[in-house]
Parts: sequence; structure tokens; C-alpha cells
Amino acid sequence: MILVTGGAGFIGSNFVLDWLACRDEPVVNLDLLTYAGNLGNLVSLRGNSRHVFVQGDVCDAALVRRLLVEYRPRAVVHLAAETHVDRSIQDAAAFVRTNVTGTYVLLEAVRDYWQALGATEREAFRFHHVSTDEVYGSLGPEDAPFTEDHPYQPNSPYSASKAASDHLVRAWHHTYGLPVVTTHCSNNYGPYHFPEKLIPLAIVNALAGKPLPLYGDGLNVRDWLYVKDHCAALRLVLERGRVGQTYNIGGWNEKTNLEIVRTICRLLDELRPDAAGPHERLITFVADRPGHDRRYAIDARKIERELGWRPAETFETGIRKTVQWYLDHPEWVAQVQSGAYRQWIATQYGRVGPA
Ligand code: NAD
Ligand code: DAU
Repeated sequence: MILVTGGAGFIGSNFVLDWLACRDEPVVNLDLLTYAGNLGNLVSLRGNSRHVFVQGDVCDAALVRRLLVEYRPRAVVHLAAETHVDRSIQDAAAFVRTNVTGTYVLLEAVRDYWQALGATEREAFRFHHVSTDEVYGSLGPEDAPFTEDHPYQPNSPYSASKAASDHLVRAWHHTYGLPVVTTHCSNNYGPYHFPEKLIPLAIVNALAGKPLPLYGDGLNVRDWLYVKDHCAALRLVLERGRVGQTYNIGGWNEKTNLEIVRTICRLLDELRPDAAGPHERLITFVADRPGHDRRYAIDARKIERELGWRPAETFETGIRKTVQWYLDHPEWVAQVQSGAYRQWIATQYGRVGPA
């Protein structure tokens, strides 16, 4: 049994689905179901006895301790977090609570549980902390991609809260010997991505004939990875990653935001042409994100060298699959575009966002 936190979110649900498709080992999935958590992502697991879903908070120490005693996992994969940078700029409270306090609560509960295990189980146990490349800060145009030794320079409330959680995880290993591994992944995209983030927002807005908002000059760079490649890397690190180590995960796919949105427009012109004209007509430059990091890029050579991981998808194959997935799942899009979603879009984009 493994315990996954945040397994109803974008990466978490992809991870749980992939895990159960290629492993026999069951999963207990602890997720609070915030606006970003969606059991609709997991409908295909209905009736699957290897998936136990528990709605609850990683900050709830009693609940976390009870789950550990009841299910006796041999590993924890910690994905639960508040994850949207723009939301963290509007109000960081939930980010500090879930990302920092939640990780602390989990570490303390896991430490007690792990210390009480027999020698063999103690040795085999892993706490896998899923972090982000954003903790390393922003790169200049000519800088080398982030290695695992890059200094921490978090710039947003979100990345600062993730950096804080990374430091707690590191300290629990250094001080108490808790067997941890931490991964730093670049920007993911793929199925079940909540449409507040750039790629799914651009797809759903383009399909609805609504503006495609690009912050600033649209030339900020991100390094994109198809979510299922991230999930494969997480499985590998959990299996064979060295205790106490960190691993960067990335797709070697640096793109400007403008390139990303233009690619989506071209794919939609091909797959779902709009009688009103090419989708690029909808691109709209809007006010920049405060403190907007200019460029992220991941040097993924360590995980390639040590664990033999390589992404299976190129950006071209992954983005085509992703656009097709959104075309094939209009009911999922309609379901996530709830009242709370519309309220966020109105607050963030004012008049250019969808109604
Ligand atoms: P997401 O926002 O889609 O999902 C987060 C999930 O956590 C949701 O299901 C939510 O309900 C749950 N959650 C939030 N607060 C909780 C709490 N207090 N207790 C229990 N569950 C709670 O996030 P995501 O994009 O899937 O990211 C998952 C993890 O991967 C995060 O830790 C994030 O920092 C990291 N990450 C994300 C990316 C990316 O591009 N999305 C890249 C690198 C790392
Ligand atoms: O790098 C990993 C990180 O990637 C994860 O840790 C975060 O959880 C995840 O949300 C993501 O953060 P970003 O801020 O990079 O992702 P987002 O999709 O919000 O933005 C991607 C880029 O697109 C960024 O430069 C901001 C820009 N953008 C975003 C939105 C929502 C726009 O230009 N317009 C938009 O409307």
C-alpha cells in the first residue's frame, strides 16, 4: 500500500491512474477536494478495491496518523498543495497553511509511524516529496538550466511556500534520518489540468471564442513536460531513487508562452476550425504577473544518468494529445467550470476573461 496526498488534483490523479494501471499495489488517496481537487478525474476507478479515497486535510494530524496506522503504507507520495502562482499573489494564506504546515504535520506523523516499524520495513520506507523547479528562481536568457545544486531563490508566495516545505523535508532526513526523496519538476501539461493554468485555459477559451490572455510580452519561458512522463519519473524515483537525494525532472522543452498559445491555436485550426477565423485572433496581451519569473529550464541529466528516465513524449506529440483530450471531454470541462471557477476568472482577468 502507498499513501498519496493530493491524488484528486491534476498530477495526483494522473499519478494514481497510472500507478493502478501498471502496479498491483493499492493506493490510499488523501485529498481535501479544494477547488482544484476533482473526483471526476477518478471515475474510472469506481468499484476498484485497490483505490481507497479519503476526503481530508493534510493539516489534520489525527486523521493522517489514523490513516498511517490503519493502512500501514510502505511509502508516502506527497503531492497535496496549493499550486497556482496567481492565487498565491492574491492571497498566500492557504499556501502557507497547506504547503508549509501541511508538510510539517505529515512529516511528524510519518516520523512516528516510521520509527515504530520493524527494521526491514523501516529500511524500505520512503517519503517522496513532490516539489517544483520554481524554488530555484528565475534564469536569464543565457543561463544554464537548473541543476539539483542550484541555489534556492523562490520569488512568488507559492514558490516560497514550496521551498519552505522542501527545507522541512531535508531537515527531517538530516536530523531524524527519515528516508526521503525530493523531486523538482518543470511545468506539466496533459489531461485533467485545471483551466486556470496557461495551457488548459488557452484551450478552453479558444474553443469558446474567448480571449487568450498572455501576461506582459508573452516571452516568458517555461520547460514543458507531459504529465504522464512526470508520473513515470515519480514511480522510478520512488523505486530506485537514492535516499536523501533530490532529482530534477524536465522535458528539455523550453518554449515562450507566445509559442505555446500559437501552437494550441494552430492545432485547433486543424482539429476544430472556427468559421470566425484563425484562433490566433483571440490572443490578448494583458497586465503582467507581479514578480513574474522570466525563464525556467531543467537540467534532467541526473535522473537520466542514475535511473535511466527519459520522457516518452516530445512537446509536439504531447500537446496534440492534450488538445485532443480536451476536445474529447467537453463534459469534464463543463463540470470544472463551476461557480467558483467563474469567480476566479472574473477576479483575475476582469473584462478580458470568459463570463
Ligand atoms: P493541483 O492544484 O491540480 O492539485 C492539488 C491537489 O491537492 C488537489 O486535489 C487539492 O484538493 C489537494 N489539496 C490541496 N490542499 C490540500 C490539503 N490541505 N489537504 C489535502 N489535499 C489538499 O496541483 P498539481 O498541479 O497536480 O500539483 C501537484 C504537486 O506537484 C504540487 O505539490 C505541486 O507543487 C507539484 N508540481 C506541480 C507542477 C505543475 O506543473 N502542475 C510542476 C511541478 C511540481
Ligand atoms: O514550473 C512548475 C510550476 O508550473 C508548478 O510548480 C506550478 O504549480 C504550476 O502552476 C506552474 O506554474 P506557472 O506559473 O509556470 O504556470 P501557469 O500555467 O500559471 O503559467 C505559465 C506561464 O504562462 C507563466 O509564465 C505565466 C503565463 N500565463 C499564465 C496564465 C494563467 C499567461 O501568460 N497568461 C495566463 O492567463
